[in-house]
Amino acid sequence: SWTPDSFVETTVKELKAKLGNDKVVLGLSGGVDSSVTGVLLNEAIGKNLTCIFVDNGLLRKNEFESVLHSYEDMGLNVIGVDARQKFWDDLKGITDPEQKRKIIGRNFIEVFDVEAQKLKDVKWLAQGTIYPDVIESVSVNGPSATIKSHHNVGGLPEKMNLKIVEPLRLLFKDEVRRVGKALNIKHELLGRHPFPGPGLGIRILGDVTPDKVRMLQEADSIFINGLRSWDLYDKVWQAGVVLLPIQSVGVMGDERTYENTVALRAVASTDGMTADWVHLPYEFLAKMSNEIINKVRGINRVVYDISSKPPATIEWE
Ligand code: XMP
Repeated sequence: SWTPDSFVETTVKELKAKLGNDKVVLGLSGGVDSSVTGVLLNEAIGKNLTCIFVDNGLLRKNEFESVLHSYEDMGLNVIGVDARQKFWDDLKGITDPEQKRKIIGRNFIEVFDVEAQKLKDVKWLAQGTIYPDVIESVSVNGPSATIKSHHNVGGLPEKMNLKIVEPLRLLFKDEVRRVGKALNIKHELLGRHPFPGPGLGIRILGDVTPDKVRMLQEADSIFINGLRSWDLYDKVWQAGVVLLPIQSVGVMGDERTYENTVALRAVASTDGMTADWVHLPYEFLAKMSNEIINKVRGINRVVYDISSKPPATIEWE
């Protein structure tokens, strides 16, 4: 019968046989699938694996540094690339969500490509594809068919003449988590909420600017840390903050302010296809609202999204 330990044992053996002394490149996202793929390949081929982790300027606060450190702690051979400015430049003035996604996806491929080309003699591109992605990419169900598209560095395999290796291709998400546990990956990494590839880029409604990214990172970090310290993080499937393109009036001392609104979102789900908004405690929401308004310059109003999917999607764009 299937156990995580037997999966690790046979897969490492198979990877060794398949890859021999070949060099492999992998794009890490900070998510569960690519992390487990990286650790598994590291067990099999060690330093012949090079991982690339790109800061697209749309990650959560401190995410780049902290994820990079945990990868290094796990012994992965990882290159961190600060490409923030390139993403911000190319997103300047862009408001259409799908156009944002395209730009972010294209930039990721370009940055990854430049880094991968610097490596000598790479033969394989590893990907954290899991079984639901395999099914998703053959079915035509609207937006979800393109959801993962940015993760796949399309065009690169042909261009660099790379073969593809996808060790998690037959696993479901819960199996991936169990394999990760068998590989001693920390719960902190394995239990992470899903986070969209385009990141905060699709949680800033309207155009993306570095200052808006800063505001959203601050508010999001207060909310996510709050969920953790109130022991709510593991009870929620996904959570985040959305920066709305709305200003409203507030007062601060004797001054009248005209500043931004954020919406908090927290949902319960099993696969993201349907989702219910979570009945977070009022006391918690009150705390979060106060803390965000007091600490984040530029935000004077906080609302909570009480819409379920369908019809309201998890992301706002
Ligand atoms: P929606 O908003 O469609 O989201 O209810 C369902 C799940 O998919 C994630 N999502 C994305 N993930 N690239 C991704 O990698 C995307 O463009 C994208 N759009 C939505 C969303 O965070 C949720 O987990």
